[in-house]
Amino acid sequence: MVDTRRLTTLFSAIGRGDWEETASSALEIVDTVDAKGNRKAAQTLRGALNGLVHHPAGRPAHPAPQSALSQILIRCPVGVPLTELFLRPETSELLTAIQDEWAAQDALAAAGLPMRRRLLFHGPPGCGKTVTAAALGAVLGVPAYVVRFHALIGSFLGQTAVHLREVFQFAAQRRCILVLDEIDVLGKQRGNQMDVGELDRIVVALMQELDLAKIRGLVIGATNLPAHLDTALWRRFDLHLEFPAPTAAELLAYGKRLAKKHGLSLSPAVRKRLAGAGDFAAAERCILEEARRRIIQLHKDKDNAG
Ligand SMILES: Nc1ncnc2c1ncn2[C@@H]1O[C@H](COP(=O)(O)OP(=O)(O)OP(=O)(O)O)[C@@H](O)[C@H]1O
Ligand SMILES: [Mg+2]
Repeated sequence: MVDTRRLTTLFSAIGRGDWEETASSALEIVDTVDAKGNRKAAQTLRGALNGLVHHPAGRPAHPAPQSALSQILIRCPVGVPLTELFLRPETSELLTAIQDEWAAQDALAAAGLPMRRRLLFHGPPGCGKTVTAAALGAVLGVPAYVVRFHALIGSFLGQTAVHLREVFQFAAQRRCILVLDEIDVLGKQRGNQMDVGELDRIVVALMQELDLAKIRGLVIGATNLPAHLDTALWRRFDLHLEFPAPTAAELLAYGKRLAKKHGLSLSPAVRKRLAGAGDFAAAERCILEEARRRIIQLHKDKDNAG
């Protein structure tokens, strides 16, 4: 069931004859239906909206990521629910604060207090930045799209600022989470093969978008190398959330939970490997390897018995 807040926004937009807002609100409802797993219903609703997209008022269509954008924006599947992620208490608290602000965003805006929409996730690889962004989207009922900076810069050299504009327009037209993944690429390549002037222009364009774009959802920057980020870019984000490397105890707890899910009991050797895995992604690979081995063994035993 679609919530009353979304329907009220839609009806008010229709009442005002604001077709751009109408299209955005309607597509937001479609996204919610999609996010709940009703793919077919979402498709039917999208088809029904074509007329609105081509409304005589000539308002811009609500774009699905198409053409160049489809290379840059990747819809991020929800891997792990937010409640199942291993997060530091301070990170969880900040994420809860964002959820509270999201729920009260209209009241906050009416009081002249915009919610914090620009978040920076930083920490080593495999420690939950991307998976948390997607999980947050699921909790807020909006899709998450990963912006691949390598694609944005590599494929469209010279046109990067134009494509950045398109990406932020996309986020201005629908409530979604835009994950600016590998944002450090901009800093990392400074002085490398890319023309420094070009790179500076991209950083400036990105900062302008962060300052000026009317973001309807959230923008999450993610980086493994916060020290490589331009300090001015760092300051553009309202909140900085750290995803540190897990401790051995956290890796063990994570591994045990995953092992239970796969009906595995952990041998001392696997526990040792888990504790030294370094990050959650490596710990996950370790358990999945064991789970595969177990199933293959069971399969062989069955074959031999038969
Ligand atoms: N904090 C966590 N709690 C539970 N699982 C996690 C956590 N962090 C990572 N994982 C597991 O590891 C996988 C990889 O994590 P993720 O892609 O979010 O890492 P990342 O920090 O974005 O890494 P990178 O910097 O390489 O992009 C996830 O899909 C998830 O299964
Ligand atoms: Mg990531």
